[in-house]
Amino acid sequence: MVDQEEITSSQAEDATEEAMELSLRPQRLAEYLGQSKVKSELAVYIKAAKKRDEALDHVLLYGPPGLGKTTLAFVIANELGVNLKSTSGPAIEKAGDLVALLSDLDPGDVLFIDEIHRLAKPIEEVLYSAMEDYYVDIIIGEGETTHAVHVPLPPFTLIGATTLAGQLSAPLRDRFGIVEHMQYYTVDELEEIVQRSSEVFHTSISTEAAHELARRSRGTPRVANRLLKRVRDFAEVKGEETISLTTTQNALKQLQVDGEGLNQTDRKLLRTMIEGYGGGPVGIRTLAANVGEDMETIGSLYEPYLLQNGFILLTPRGRMVTDKAYLQLGYPLPKRD
Ligand SMILES: Nc1ncnc2c1ncn2[C@@H]1O[C@H](COP(=O)(O)OP(=O)(O)O)[C@@H](O)[C@H]1O
Ligand SMILES: [Mg+2]
Repeated sequence: MVDQEEITSSQAEDATEEAMELSLRPQRLAEYLGQSKVKSELAVYIKAAKKRDEALDHVLLYGPPGLGKTTLAFVIANELGVNLKSTSGPAIEKAGDLVALLSDLDPGDVLFIDEIHRLAKPIEEVLYSAMEDYYVDIIIGEGETTHAVHVPLPPFTLIGATTLAGQLSAPLRDRFGIVEHMQYYTVDELEEIVQRSSEVFHTSISTEAAHELARRSRGTPRVANRLLKRVRDFAEVKGEETISLTTTQNALKQLQVDGEGLNQTDRKLLRTMIEGYGGGPVGIRTLAANVGEDMETIGSLYEPYLLQNGFILLTPRGRMVTDKAYLQLGYPLPKRD
């Protein structure tokens, strides 16, 4: 939960959002749009594993939030024709929880661990032998009755997802045979996703409107779907049958999404750097304190997009604002010597 509108949204809205995401999730690789490199690689590995009748090698998916990591994990399990059990790093409190999950799997099943960079160290260590040789050794009892129990596990596939691959320990990272970096989506890909989602919603949207939405969705399907839902509300109130470009532009203006797709927090980050720090360099800790977001959110959500789109630069001394950002926010360019 990251941006302002999410923080203030009620639990009921969160539930609707979750239901919406579920209904919009593609089930098969062929319906999963974009990420062509990731998809073509996975298609080969999945086919080979099925042919050999073996569990697929462990898969690590990393990249910013909302790019389809969770969706892809479910698609992989579907394509393999196996069950998927889902959990997350912070949800596993005791080694015993993990052992229970693992020993409950059928051969070839997928265990999906979201936010795997947040696994507690002792639990991560249990994963090592599980991933490598399909067993865990656990200690049972206390004092004199303490003894180690060797638990063999069925062959399984661990799919880990993380927004911060850099925070994963080397021993854990090394145990994933397949590592895939999720990329921001192109405008064309997002346009297709918007069209597909509007079909699921039983609404229609004009080509120009879908293009505009796609262009302003930060390269992220989750953002595109969320904006579509809002824009649809505006169109509905107007009694519009097909969502038009004008309605889309007006709605995005009200939602404070600018022409480059930057949202309020993006702009706040850039303004802070410009007004408070002469454009930088600024350290991430300082920025986090100034805009009231945690460093993880800035590092995984905001910074990658601003970097990729040339609004900031990373230097050894911190991040710096580019001329593009000054112009986008309507500031005069700084005098440089
Ligand atoms: N490749 C894709 N094609 C179509 N829709 C997608 C795709 N990737 C993500 N989505 C949509 O975006 C939403 C967020 O994706 P999700 O898998 O939850 O992202 P992540 O786990 O990376 O944060 C999903 O509900 C899904 O509807
Ligand atoms: Mg996810």
